[in-house]
Amino acid sequence: MAGGQNVQGEDVKKLDVLANDLFINMLSSTFKVCAMVSEENKDLIVVDSEHEGRYIVCFDPLDGSSNIDCLVSIGSIFCVFRRLGDGPVSTKDALQPGDQVVGAGYALYGSATMVVLSLGGGVNGFMLDPSIGEFVLTERNMRIKPRGKIYSINESYESTWDQAVKTYVHSKKYPEPGKQLYGARYIGSMVVDVHRTICYGGIFMYPATKDAPKGKLRLLYECIPMAFIMEQAGGQASTGRGRILEIVPTDIHQRSPVFMGSKDDVQDVIDLYAKLA
Ligand code: AHG
Ligand code: MN
Ligand code: MN
Repeated sequence: MAGGQNVQGEDVKKLDVLANDLFINMLSSTFKVCAMVSEENKDLIVVDSEHEGRYIVCFDPLDGSSNIDCLVSIGSIFCVFRRLGDGPVSTKDALQPGDQVVGAGYALYGSATMVVLSLGGGVNGFMLDPSIGEFVLTERNMRIKPRGKIYSINESYESTWDQAVKTYVHSKKYPEPGKQLYGARYIGSMVVDVHRTICYGGIFMYPATKDAPKGKLRLLYECIPMAFIMEQAGGQASTGRGRILEIVPTDIHQRSPVFMGSKDDVQDVIDLYAKLA
């Protein structure tokens, strides 16, 4: 599928643009939203005053676009903040930490289509039933295991990881006697890798690398929504040195290293950072 580059110099496929237009048009016409942050738009998208509402929505309209052409699963990610003041909405209104999220979720376009949502009282999953055209609650109160046996990371960057990540991944491949050998899975669509992590347990990692010293994934529309869902499902989400949801953003497109998944697995990484870094 043809494409080009977005304002951030990243590859954009036609489907990215289509999904972005759909998000913006649908949200603008709800009368609930005053502004939006999208991966595909450099600046804050402000809803005109006749249509404006109280909420700010941050979204990655299509996550995993490198998987589009080979038909591997992709998804959409979003989170919602309440507008801060009464004055004209500005970028500052979107720079809120994840702890202020009122709701977050993602959609997965895989072997079935599913929406996973949390408004802060746990996580529910809704499967699309195409025969009735409705999303049906199929996964009530989704919970992640305290420990899993799968790690998920792009291992080709190993030479550029910091020592904590190197030591951690090595310990999964060459476990001490009595410890579990972990399996490796990496799809390259964060939303799908994290969804699998919630379903089966384990850990998803996108750490800092040499080329991406703050990691690759974006705080407002990738890390925060998925971290919110992860915590609501009983897991953890960390930069290795602190909770993702406590970071106060200073830029709408800022990046963050991320480690999220089963509580005990993420804790092992946090402990290594405390010890080694
Ligand atoms: P997007 O398709 O929204 O640009 O995001 C791609 C991201 C994320 O989904 C995935 O985890 C990561 O890129 C994969 O990056 P690497 O190829 O560096 O592993
Ligand atoms: Mn993405
Ligand atoms: Mn995207």
